[in-house]
Amino acid sequence: MEKLTAVILAAGKGTRMKSKLPKVLHKVGGKAMVEHVLDAAEAAGCRDNVVVIGHGADLVRNVIGSRARVALQAEQLGTGHAVLQAAEALRDFAGTVLVLCGDTPLLEGDELRRFYEAHARSGAAATVMTTFLDDPTGYGRILRDADGGVAAIVEQKDATEAQRAIREVNTGNYCLEAPLLFDVLRTLGNDNAQGEYYLTDVLAKLRAMGRKVGAVTTDDSEMTMGVNSRVHLAQAEAAMRRRVLQRCMEAGVTILDPASTFIEKTVRIAPDTILYPNTWLQGNTVIGEDCEIGPDVRLENVQVGDRCHLQFLYGHECQVLDDVTAGPYVHLRPDTVIGNQVKIGNFVEVKNSRVGTGTKLPHLQYIGDSDIGSHVNMGCGCITVNYDSKFKHRTVIGDNAFIGCNSNLVAPVTVGPDTYVAAGSTITKDVPADALGVARARQTNIAGWARAYRAKLDRLDTETPKDGEHGKQGGR
Ligand code: UD1
Ligand code: CA
Repeated sequence: MEKLTAVILAAGKGTRMKSKLPKVLHKVGGKAMVEHVLDAAEAAGCRDNVVVIGHGADLVRNVIGSRARVALQAEQLGTGHAVLQAAEALRDFAGTVLVLCGDTPLLEGDELRRFYEAHARSGAAATVMTTFLDDPTGYGRILRDADGGVAAIVEQKDATEAQRAIREVNTGNYCLEAPLLFDVLRTLGNDNAQGEYYLTDVLAKLRAMGRKVGAVTTDDSEMTMGVNSRVHLAQAEAAMRRRVLQRCMEAGVTILDPASTFIEKTVRIAPDTILYPNTWLQGNTVIGEDCEIGPDVRLENVQVGDRCHLQFLYGHECQVLDDVTAGPYVHLRPDTVIGNQVKIGNFVEVKNSRVGTGTKLPHLQYIGDSDIGSHVNMGCGCITVNYDSKFKHRTVIGDNAFIGCNSNLVAPVTVGPDTYVAAGSTITKDVPADALGVARARQTNIAGWARAYRAKLDRLDTETPKDGEHGKQGGR
């Protein structure tokens, strides 16, 4: 089996961000930059990866969780020193180490994979990924020697005027062979403009040792951009967003207004779905085919089936099956499953509930902690009364029940299948199958009452003195 692991450098403060948050935790497309780099490393086939943490170590460790091992760089003495901190974790590792920076969120796994394969084929001791930039400011420049090999990398701050004119830059991604890498790192000095131990110096050292040092150049210089400031962060965000939208469109999704559509990288959308303006799709959201989503829809970790029409809706941590029509003004809350052919909205909230096939929740409902069967009709204004100020209780409604308008179902309560509940009822007891549940005061009509009342008001009007205008207040 191939031996490939990644060391991701994420210990720096990111001074240029001017932030209390460690740089690598700033988010691009809703996800911390270091997580994007981990995604790319894992997609490229790296295993047992090590993230070097230091500045804000606890915060960074929390985000990484159990996805990778961590190595602590207590003092940030440079990128070379940072990689050396992973030596202990990789003590028994002999193979290729992909060294990556935690601040390159646009990096793609397949590009890294190609980079690694080129390195493996070449038999080099080190390979650096380079790219050409119109404005190389801030990046390390690649110094080539007569035969085209990489002689050295010189940092912006150490570069001569002539070297600064070089447009080929170090992307900060390297394939290096361990344990040789660590032996060389131990010999690095810090005699440079920043007084740091530069990882980039490893290449010149290997070269001096007579080892082969190669370069792989990528055309996609946007993908390798390093984020050092908030301006870069906004550029990375825009680039990520453009890339994701483009990938969706290429996969057969219609996006009416890319400028107002936000889709995170993790979202999956099937072909022939149409996205209307102001749509924001996040996390592990999955949308089936032939759906119409938006305008004004936000879905966070929502699974939507095929042929659904959702508009003016917010859904999170829930599931919507096929052929559902929802909105406008619908809130689908966690642990909710909306069955096939359900119709929901206007102004409906559903929480921790299952709604069966073909059921209608058409206007002004609150459904909480409920199991609603199929082909149920909930009248306008119906509410499940799920909370007694201390505990939540469930409401169960059987198939084909018809719940009249403005009814309260006080949980725990079961309304059986094929039942009717009279409009305006407050149901506190179970309704058995095939029954009518009525729970409201009986209406009494008092004959002639209204006429008598009007006559009384008229009498009051004539008896009141002319100067006593107060007597007319509230007149008909
Ligand atoms: C580095 C490279 C430069 C390259 C650029 C690509 C060096 C000396 N320079 O410069 O050639 O063009 O990346 O983006 O390597 N870090 C640590 N510990 C440290 C210092 C840095 O973990 O002591 C981490 C940072 O958190 C960051 C990464 O290493 O994720 C790169 O550091 P940064 O300061 O951004 O390096 P650049 O100046 O961009
Ligand atoms: Ca950087």
